[in-house]
Amino acid sequence: MCCCLRSIVFYFVVVLFILGDVTADDNCKSGFFGWKCRFRCNCKDGQSCDQSSGDCPTGCHDNSWGPGCILNNKCAYNDIRYENYVGTLTKTEYGHTCAVWTLQKSYPGDQFPDDSLEDANNYCRNPKPLTYKTWCYYSEDNRTDWDYCNIQKCSCPLGRFGNNCRHECHCRDANEACNQTTGFCQSGCNRQWNGTFCQDGPYDKSELYDNAKNKTSHDTSSDTSINVNWVNPILISLPEVPDVSG
Ligand SMILES: *[C@@H]1O[C@H](CO)[C@@H](O)[C@H](O)[C@H]1NC(C)=O
Ligand SMILES: *[C@@H]1O[C@H](CO)[C@@H](O)[C@H](O)[C@H]1NC(C)=O
Ligand SMILES: *[C@@H]1O[C@H](CO)[C@@H](O)[C@H](O)[C@H]1NC(C)=O
Ligand SMILES: *[C@@H]1O[C@H](CO)[C@@H](O)[C@H](O)[C@H]1NC(C)=O
Repeated sequence: MCCCLRSIVFYFVVVLFILGDVTADDNCKSGFFGWKCRFRCNCKDGQSCDQSSGDCPTGCHDNSWGPGCILNNKCAYNDIRYENYVGTLTKTEYGHTCAVWTLQKSYPGDQFPDDSLEDANNYCRNPKPLTYKTWCYYSEDNRTDWDYCNIQKCSCPLGRFGNNCRHECHCRDANEACNQTTGFCQSGCNRQWNGTFCQDGPYDKSELYDNAKNKTSHDTSSDTSINVNWVNPILISLPEVPDVSG
């Protein structure tokens, strides 16, 4: 009886230990995502995001878009013609409110970066593209016209690069933010990754989110310190989209 109880307690402790270890190893803290959990997502209503992709369950917090909603609505990123902008800005540079694209027959859905014309809603876009700016139609006083949207070119948040900042850096020095346009890492690729832009990998999946656990020892030859959480400085420093409707 006493031995039976003892073994039950023993297994209970073992199970707790394993569970605790699994959560510590495999999960980012709520609200963080990406390799080594370095990015803080910006979901609607403060919801937590998918720890790998940063996808939010019901979309982005106001004025944000992109992976983990860490991009600014008034910015396009490594997108020369603004043709891949899929942010949610709905005001033109003269303050008109954009009309839904479905009202326009001249632009089929496949000319949009969105999955469908419906997804483009009434957001500033550069379908086709014919110009080097985003724009939209608007309807006022029984007439329809169009206007450009004032979207800037911005640098990707630290730790990301490429068109729409869709790629993450995986530099040998995990604290190095690679070139925000090209992805080049001065320190080379992290040992779990290779390829020109360190995008092939990881070769050991257990390394994916290991910033979430408190390591007592780790291979200092590759990651020096890995407690960087890259919150997007652009989101914090740029002003909100002004309300120009009034
Ligand atoms: C728009 O058209 C409707 C119907 O043709 C008309 O009643 C209304 O006065 C017009 N509004 C403006 C602002 O011109
Ligand atoms: C990133 O690389 C581009 C192209 O080589 C270069 O023009 C740019 O200055 C680099 N950016 C930084 C921050 O080093
Ligand atoms: C990338 O790394 C893996 C594992 O270390 C290795 O098998 C593979 O050959 C490497 N590929 C290149 C192109 O270096
Ligand atoms: C990691 O360890 C430090 C120091 O022991 C502690 O202050 C911190 O709260 C720990 N973090 C986590 C996520 O357990």
